[in-house]
Amino acid sequence: MKKIAFLALPAAFALALTTTTALAADGKAVYTDSCAKCHGDDGKGATKMGTKLGARDYTDAAVQAAFTDDQAFKSIKEGMKKDDKTLMKPSELSDDDIKASIAYLRAFKK
Ligand code: HEC
Repeated sequence: MKKIAFLALPAAFALALTTTTALAADGKAVYTDSCAKCHGDDGKGATKMGTKLGARDYTDAAVQAAFTDDQAFKSIKEGMKKDDKTLMKPSELSDDDIKASIAYLRAFKK
C-alpha cells in the first residue's frame, strides 16, 4: 500500500504540471471551462443556461457563417447584449484563450 502511494505521487504531480502548461491556449480546455455551460459540450447550446438565453446551434453551418472570427472575438471579449438582456458577460480570458476557444467552436460545424 505504502509503496503504491509513493509511486503514484510523483506521477500525479507530473500530470498536474503538464495540464497546467497545456491550458495556456488549449481551445478545448478553455471551451470546456468557460463556454460549455451555455454552448454545450457539443456546441448545440442545449444546456439549461443555453436554452434560457437562446444560444444557437453551432453545428449548423448557417449559424457559423453568420459571424466572422473578429466579430466573435469582440462579442466574447466585450460581452454581448440583446436589448437589456446580457447574453454573454465580458470575458476575463486572455486574447489567446479567446482565439483558441473560437477555433474550437468553429470545429463543431458539420
Ligand atoms: C452565460 C452563457 C454563455 C457563456 C458562458 C458563453 N456564451 Fe457565447 N453566447 C451566449 C449567447 C446566449 C449568445 C447569443 C446567441 C448565440 O449567438 O448563440 C452567444 C453568442 C456567442 C457567439 C456569437 C457571437 C456573434 O457575434 O454573433 C460566439 C462565437 C460565442 N458565443 C462563443 C462563446 C465562447 C467561445 C465562449 C467561451 C469563451 C462563450 N461563448 C461563452 C451565451 C454564452
